[in-house]
Amino acid sequence: MKAELSNTFLWGAATSAHQVEGNNCNNDWWEWEQADPKRTSSGQAADHFNCFREDLALAKKLGHTAHRLSLEWSRLEPKQGVWDANAVAHYRDVLSELKRLDMKVFLTLNHFTIPLWFTKRGGWTWKDAPQAFESYARRAAESFGDLVDFWITINEPNVYLSHGFWIGQWPPEQKKRLFSLLNAANQLIRAHRMSYEMIHSIIPRAHVGIAPSLIGYFPARTNNMGDNLAARYSDWMWNHALVNRVASSCDFLGLQYYFSRKRQFTISPPFIQDKPWNSPATDMGWPIVPEGLMKELRHFASYNIPLYITENGLADATDSKREQFIRDHLAVVTKAIQEGIDIRGYLYWSLLDNFEWAEGFGPRFGLIEVDYNTQQRTIRPSAYAYQRIMQEVVGRLSRSSVP
Ligand code: BGC
Repeated sequence: MKAELSNTFLWGAATSAHQVEGNNCNNDWWEWEQADPKRTSSGQAADHFNCFREDLALAKKLGHTAHRLSLEWSRLEPKQGVWDANAVAHYRDVLSELKRLDMKVFLTLNHFTIPLWFTKRGGWTWKDAPQAFESYARRAAESFGDLVDFWITINEPNVYLSHGFWIGQWPPEQKKRLFSLLNAANQLIRAHRMSYEMIHSIIPRAHVGIAPSLIGYFPARTNNMGDNLAARYSDWMWNHALVNRVASSCDFLGLQYYFSRKRQFTISPPFIQDKPWNSPATDMGWPIVPEGLMKELRHFASYNIPLYITENGLADATDSKREQFIRDHLAVVTKAIQEGIDIRGYLYWSLLDNFEWAEGFGPRFGLIEVDYNTQQRTIRPSAYAYQRIMQEVVGRLSRSSVP
């Protein structure tokens, strides 16, 4: 199986509905954006809802063999139990276009946003949330099953939980609410497991996974026992606590890596502190640390299921660091494959500049620049560099003897 890898290694880019489509006005994020005039509204976003053919044609032109996108649940099920025929037709058009372009499709069912009717019932802390999600997954599988290669149930449940129930910056804006966080975590886990079973009952050969966010944790002082314990504890909490509970209901794992952290133990509360990296950073201030990805790939190899990098990228408005970033992270991926780790694809985040949640439109993650005034697209030089790097990577993989 692994020997065939070099022929089938998938690569491309990812997007999510609310961040690119525009006018997703029936979900919790839209409500959050309107609730305070200081917040940026996602508004038209990148108008991908209307421009998807042009955008996907650009991805194809750049050589991408796979693409990841998400469904906007609130468009498909605007009221509980009501399935919108126009929204189904729209997503069938998008997915059919990808098939016409001969690209593999990774489809995410839930990328952070939830319909307002679901929020009103309590969101992910609602007792019937997993059943409601399962029924959405059933209809999605029935409606799009013939056009999807990989299903991702939930995007970064760990980010959703920490931002929504601990930091309190994102909807549902609950700060340090441990009980609600644990409750929502259990509901997300149940929702994943139930939708995994449901999708398989409709499409027995489906590939279904989940996509956690990964952070590389390193001790601030290499030989300090406290720092090492702090790094290990953080690694377990962020990267594994939730994945451990869903891995048996996954045909693959989608790994999403952006940066690493240095942990230092302190005698007094809060006991763990972050220490700065002396490495270059992205426009988000995130340190660029490819070895953090290596560390996590080695950890995740122990789950013994195929791995795909479903997000990796950076905000870089001047496009001065993107090529090197991609090159360095793909060097890590190549090395990991040569070590025998079963990694089958890489999707850059993101195909297009987009709405970066609470940060608005400032950060520029796209391989393709979007002028939000005219909706004009401009391919960044790094997008062509990505194509060249990928050709080298695929070539190197086919020449090397993968175990
Ligand atoms: C999310 C994306 C986000 C990206 C960059 C990931 O956490 O899945 O929605 O835009 O990181 O912050």
